[in-house]
Amino acid sequence: MRHLMSPLDFTTGELDKLFDLANDMEKHMERYAHICEGKKLATCFYEPSTRTRLSFEAAMLNLGGQVIGFSDAASSSASKGESVSDTIRVISCYADICAMRHPKEGAPMVAAQRSSIPVINAGDGGHQHPTQTLTDLLTIRSLQGRLSGLTIGLCGDLKFGRTVHSLIHALSRYDDIHFIFISPEELRIPDYITDMLKAKGIPYEEVIRLEERIPSLDLLYMTRVQRERFFNEEDYVRLKDFYILDMAKLSLAREDMLVLHPLPRVNEISVEVDDDPRAVYFKQAQYGVYVRMALICTLLGLA
Ligand code: NCD
Repeated sequence: MRHLMSPLDFTTGELDKLFDLANDMEKHMERYAHICEGKKLATCFYEPSTRTRLSFEAAMLNLGGQVIGFSDAASSSASKGESVSDTIRVISCYADICAMRHPKEGAPMVAAQRSSIPVINAGDGGHQHPTQTLTDLLTIRSLQGRLSGLTIGLCGDLKFGRTVHSLIHALSRYDDIHFIFISPEELRIPDYITDMLKAKGIPYEEVIRLEERIPSLDLLYMTRVQRERFFNEEDYVRLKDFYILDMAKLSLAREDMLVLHPLPRVNEISVEVDDDPRAVYFKQAQYGVYVRMALICTLLGLA
């Protein structure tokens, strides 16, 4: 039995197979419409979510399976003091696979250790978000045609953004990748990530101004300032609008640069950018369904 805790749990070869399957599912949805019949997915979300939970549920329904779950810790027995270990032992009796989001780093890993069904980390605190990374990689591979030879700008909250942390780990395994980290001083990328890049000899730069480096990028990955992980509201208010990608800034970028965002967006991308062909964040959300369909089938041993 396999779980998914980190994007590194799959080799790059396994990821290629997963993405091929996701692209095939996109083209031939009807061929997969019954593959999970009789199977249940449990979504255990102790933290708010729109895309991740609903795309998991849509994915399972597209595969002919069923879904159960909760979307709020307050409506689960966590509010009575139950541990994730006990909860997952019970969920294992009700479902065949579980996607879990939790505000505490490592909680899905603790669950996986006590689980008799595959557990998928659907985001743990400021740590990792592997299925968002699968979504991001599938989007890049499908729209950019490759995962190597890319200059990637990551902009916004690089300190608390778990999607950023997972994506950097995942991309660091491909050839000829160059990272440009664009953040205010207070939201810089954590040292454990830059230490990993140094150890692997992967080039990166840290800059504050988006305009400075946007012309050199193949991809711009925008992120929201993670309000819920701040210690005080004052700092959040000071930093929340530090970056706003508008048409003036986008006009400095190459014609073939892609703009990704895991969403939800707050103010960091003006709505005027949405109609530019380089803005692919809503397509990215759609790829999230295909990749989760492929992941569910793979972890259930059906693909
Ligand atoms: C992200 C998350 O939850 O980390 N959202 C998502 O899953 N698409 C990004 C965010 O909340 O900013």
